[in-house]
Amino acid sequence: MKPQLRSLLGIEQLTTAQIESILALARRMDPSRPSQLLRGKRVALLFYESSTRTRTSFEFAAKTLGATTTLVTPVSSSIEKGESLIDTGWTVANLGADAIVMRHANSGAAYLLARYVRVPIVNAGDGMHQHPSQALLDALTITNHKKRLQGLRVVIVGDVYHSRVARSNAQLLSRFGADIVFCGAPDFVPEISASLAPGVAACHDLNAALQGADVVMALRVQKERLAGKDISVEDYIANYQVTPQRMKLAKPDAILMHPGPVIRGMELTSEVADGPQSCIHEQVRNGVKTRMAILAMLLGAAR
Ligand code: NCD
Repeated sequence: MKPQLRSLLGIEQLTTAQIESILALARRMDPSRPSQLLRGKRVALLFYESSTRTRTSFEFAAKTLGATTTLVTPVSSSIEKGESLIDTGWTVANLGADAIVMRHANSGAAYLLARYVRVPIVNAGDGMHQHPSQALLDALTITNHKKRLQGLRVVIVGDVYHSRVARSNAQLLSRFGADIVFCGAPDFVPEISASLAPGVAACHDLNAALQGADVVMALRVQKERLAGKDISVEDYIANYQVTPQRMKLAKPDAILMHPGPVIRGMELTSEVADGPQSCIHEQVRNGVKTRMAILAMLLGAAR
């Protein structure tokens, strides 16, 4: 029996079988070959927060499968006039959306909408909470390079505390037996972050964390977030920037990942971002495949 999925809200709600079937379907998707799998379906992209990769890839994914899309953002919609999230969701659903892909600055926003609106909701990032499609595309990318997730050492470095990407990835990868090391300054990696899932550890020493790493995942670090913290921008760079020298501490075949947007010279150097171990472009490409699979599955068109 095919595992049925109504909405994609977070990694925790997915069964292991559902994760595996989304990844298997994503591997079979070909963004260069338009199809009619979702012909006649309407996908609304409700983006309360800015986005380049996620929004564009959901849009291309939907259109490649023959669906139509419409973008709703706070500017130039009734959101600007003060309409609530639920009223906007109802409106978009009543207008005929078959699915709503939603990004919102508040943690839990997608879960809330899913309780009120009858169409499938895809969480494209809710506050500091979850970004499930990113974790799925990251898992797809890792499994393109590594035989299995089981036993991999995955170092996630940067502003883990604010990162929905870190949370979703740690939950997904640890489910498959990967060891996750959250690394960063104590303000960005509080000790409690290790309690997120079994197999997750917290570390404040990047050089130690990188020893034997199979995957190095850098996260965006906003300079503004360092204001008032115990660490300056200069100290952050000195201690946590991913540099070619630091990459040498990881396994020789380690891959380097970043969900974007990359702030060059902050969380990593251009040599690393553009270097031979970097999978950043591949992650972006896998985003389209993965989101094609997610939409096909939620809209009941997956074979
Ligand atoms: C991330 C996000 O918005 O959560 N970007 C993305 O979707 N690829 C990461 C970030 O903004 O730092």
